[in-house]
Amino acid sequence: MIKKGTIIAVVIALLTALAACGKSAEPSSSSSAGGEEAKKKVIVGTDAAFAPFEYMDKGKIVGFDVDLLDAVMKEAGIDYELKNIGWDPLFAALQSKEIDMAISGITINDKRKQTYDFSIPYFESTHMIMVKENSPIKNALDLKGKVIGVQNATTGQEAVEKLLGKDNKNIKKFENTVVAIMELLNGGVDAVVTDNAVANEYVKNNPDKKIKTIADPDHFESEFYGLMFPKGSDLKPKVDEALKKLIKSGKYAEIYKKWFGTEPKVDNLLK
Ligand code: ARG
Repeated sequence: MIKKGTIIAVVIALLTALAACGKSAEPSSSSSAGGEEAKKKVIVGTDAAFAPFEYMDKGKIVGFDVDLLDAVMKEAGIDYELKNIGWDPLFAALQSKEIDMAISGITINDKRKQTYDFSIPYFESTHMIMVKENSPIKNALDLKGKVIGVQNATTGQEAVEKLLGKDNKNIKKFENTVVAIMELLNGGVDAVVTDNAVANEYVKNNPDKKIKTIADPDHFESEFYGLMFPKGSDLKPKVDEALKKLIKSGKYAEIYKKWFGTEPKVDNLLK
């Protein structure tokens, strides 16, 4: 007897193949057909390996940032498309204006502000240490002499460099945070330093992995996320205005509660 699951799988495969056919048969360009040039979609880039802010779920980019972006763009009346292009390429693509803006849990800091523009802050974050449950590491100072994993070119890397020294060979840089956490599971690193909400989300979703998080407010500062633009982008004022409206109207709080289960402290954002 053929199993029901097998039949369903075959039907899904056929449908997927059919859908793909339909797509490639379509004309590749639909502009310039009817005189008036179609309004260009704003391209937003992200690195969708940073749950709960942006991650892939059944082939779709989802997360707090994704919902917030959608609300902002609707409020501002901007047609957009979100693309998962990875963390390091994000910065280059913005600079070359290959993409128009980025949302990716990106911390607003002075160094980045020299090259990019940022929206008003939309989320407060700090760093956290992730270790195996039986690790001897208890705080940031215990990271000395240990092998630490970070995502390359993040503020997490900077926070660890501040503690251990910039060219410390014990700081292992990974392309994304998911890979860094995998190294922790494999024993390739003794700890991972990343944004607190991301560390907590991983531990919550993976109790079987026996990982715990350690906060250390004495050594990790508070920072704020913003949407990032090429310098001088005319999207910034529109996005700022929409963001402010959503924060004041309670729509921001609604999205925040959906992802974090608690009420946000919006006063810190509107300062
Ligand atoms: N907040 C940190 C930074 O801006 C890490 C962000 C990483 N985001 C991501 N989607 N991988 O450096």
